[in-house]
Amino acid sequence: MDRYGVFGNPIGHSKSPLIHRLFAEQTGQPLSYEALLAPLENFEGYARAFFVQGLGGNVTVPFKEQAFALADSLTERARRAGAVNTLKKLDDGSLLGDNTDGAGLVRDLTVNAGIELRGKRILLLGAGGAVRGILEPFLAQQPRTLVIANRTVEKAEQLARQFADLGPVVASGFDWIDAPVDLIVNGTSASLAGELPPISASLIQPGHTCCYDMMYGAGPTAFNRWAAEQGAARTLDGLGMLVEQAVEAFHLWRGVRPDSAPVLAELRRQLAAG
Ligand SMILES: NC(=O)c1ccc[n+]([C@@H]2O[C@H](COP(=O)([O-])OP(=O)(O)OC[C@H]3O[C@@H](n4cnc5c(N)ncnc54)[C@H](OP(=O)(O)O)[C@@H]3O)[C@@H](O)[C@H]2O)c1
Repeated sequence: MDRYGVFGNPIGHSKSPLIHRLFAEQTGQPLSYEALLAPLENFEGYARAFFVQGLGGNVTVPFKEQAFALADSLTERARRAGAVNTLKKLDDGSLLGDNTDGAGLVRDLTVNAGIELRGKRILLLGAGGAVRGILEPFLAQQPRTLVIANRTVEKAEQLARQFADLGPVVASGFDWIDAPVDLIVNGTSASLAGELPPISASLIQPGHTCCYDMMYGAGPTAFNRWAAEQGAARTLDGLGMLVEQAVEAFHLWRGVRPDSAPVLAELRRQLAAG
């Protein structure tokens, strides 16, 4: 069996082992995939020991930047993201770092939900690791405008400067904007605490604006509840992004693209069951 796993700390909550086991079953790929509790003070040593045998790994909080430093080579999207969520051992034993989060989100929006991004006015809330990771794939879709709004405006400004060569991206504070947009993606961690980014309800054009919370849970997130109350045309959560980023990683490792739909349905069923 070829060995894969997900590095994190904590890691017990991770859904990646279930997702990749279902992918392996579905595609008949002979691999094992385990949760790897890497020590906070020695991610590098732990990861190097794993890769003596292991062929690939996912990386989650808080090690994505350390995995970026560990990788011997990087895909362009990982270099832009400044973070790695997928490592692959190449034939010469070196480690390739990739970041599949943004591609996963774009695929969930465009393929699963059928939402076109090209020519659209898009608002991204937050300027942390998650938003940084999705900027390159989002700008590749050629939106009309991409506004990054963040509580700490300087962080949004820094991101907008770093990605300005890829498309029309600008920074904003939460209360500087009120004209309706086509899509709002919440990439803040406010939902984790059941809180809302303080944005104007007028950003949502009833029956038109779609809203996506990168966070997910058993029921609608605080942001998606609020968006639905304002009349958002659609509200989507980040479970599809989680499964699609895993599809991208599995494809990088095995050259096979699993069907995400049955796996997403199983995860949704398990979440609802508690
Ligand atoms: N579905 C998926 O596959 C997936 C993948 C990655 C991440 N995520 C989700 O994305 C979210 C962000 O993750 P991250 O890694 O980017 O976190 P992060 O690097 O810690 O960044 C957190 C961001 O949230 C903002 N924020 C935190 N609390 C806030 C509040 N109460 N009001 C307004 N803004 C607030 C921060 O603003 P400041 O800069 O002002 O502090 C920052 O922009 C998390 O909910 C995570 O679960 C989902």
